[in-house]
Amino acid sequence: MSLTLTTAGESHGPALVAIVSGLPAGLVLDRDAVDADLARRQQGYGRSPRQRIEQDRVDVLAGLRHGRTLGTPLALVVANRDHANWAWGMSPWPPEGEPTGKGVKPVTLPRPGHADLAGAFKYGLDDVRDALERASARHTAAIVAAGAVAKALLATVEIEVRGAAVDEDALQANVDEARAERDTVGGLVEVRATGVPPGLGSYASRDSRLDGRLAAAMMSVQAVKGVEIGDGFALAGSRGSEAHDEIEEGFVRGTNRAGGIEAGVSNGEEIVVRAAMKPLPTLMKPLRSVDLHTGDPGEALVERSDVAAVEALAVVAEAAVAFELARAAREKFGGDALGDFVAAWRAYLERIPWRRTR
Ligand SMILES: Cc1cc2nc3c(=O)[nH]c(=O)nc-3n(C[C@H](O)[C@H](O)[C@H](O)COP(=O)(O)O)c2cc1C
Repeated sequence: MSLTLTTAGESHGPALVAIVSGLPAGLVLDRDAVDADLARRQQGYGRSPRQRIEQDRVDVLAGLRHGRTLGTPLALVVANRDHANWAWGMSPWPPEGEPTGKGVKPVTLPRPGHADLAGAFKYGLDDVRDALERASARHTAAIVAAGAVAKALLATVEIEVRGAAVDEDALQANVDEARAERDTVGGLVEVRATGVPPGLGSYASRDSRLDGRLAAAMMSVQAVKGVEIGDGFALAGSRGSEAHDEIEEGFVRGTNRAGGIEAGVSNGEEIVVRAAMKPLPTLMKPLRSVDLHTGDPGEALVERSDVAAVEALAVVAEAAVAFELARAAREKFGGDALGDFVAAWRAYLERIPWRRTR
């Protein structure tokens, strides 16, 4: 049984869409819980006024009846309220009437650090907007909606996932300073998953390793430039005698340097994943660029932008990790009905001598 996620949607198009396939039937979804995660994604120190325009709410078009999954593809939709201001510029069909509102003028000065230049070359675009709209991190609203569903599934087998910015106080001071200088900042986020039993993921093949899948899921989020699991990069500088987690009576570990994964398989300890976010590439004091049409030097487009989005990334990273863990749990426990899934998890826990320690 494979859980998959397909997303669609442009930043200022009508809506973002997430289709989740492979859920069991009978999972109860709480709309408020999904909306609460969408709201968390919009918060955080250093966000732009766009967040005041959008008050994201999830809608469901398919796969749910009376709040319970049907075991069929679940289609989630998050509308872009801001689309009203871009109705002509981002009209999916050839627009009617005189050009009006935002997105009317083609963007020809690509922003460094964004999809703009590579996207324009790759897809043969005259207007960089055709690249930046999809590459925008607005897309992460779809990931968060799908992640909330994944968390609901994980809760049925007592797995909890939580993301947070690392060192929030220092981050705020950093943001204030950067804002005053019309600059931007990045930062670190950490996701912890508790209750994950040993045995999710596999060493049997390269693409079934849980560490690889989590790293790919995190690295696929906009602006993430580094991922580590457990003590990660620091392990490179330590000795073997101080890098591993010795197995103690009752099959528990006194340390968790591996971050809950050995050989691509969860080992029953807390899963700890960290990601490094680069400073956001759109600056209020624009970076240098070159006009795509004329080849003349100029200043990159200044699109409404955050100074920092580290706390938002923490929510997105939480969703990305939750989705991967849910995917691994579906592979291990299967089941078309939620009861089958939970029963397989219970039977497995009866077979192994692992007892949850945190
Ligand atoms: C939650 C979140 C919000 C973001 N907001 C902005 C923003 O306001 N301005 C900006 O320039 N980049 C923002 N980014 C980062 C860009 O989307 C990202 O750097 C860009 O798409 C290029 O992708 P890459 O950094 O992965 O190479 C944000 C990223 C995340 C995860």
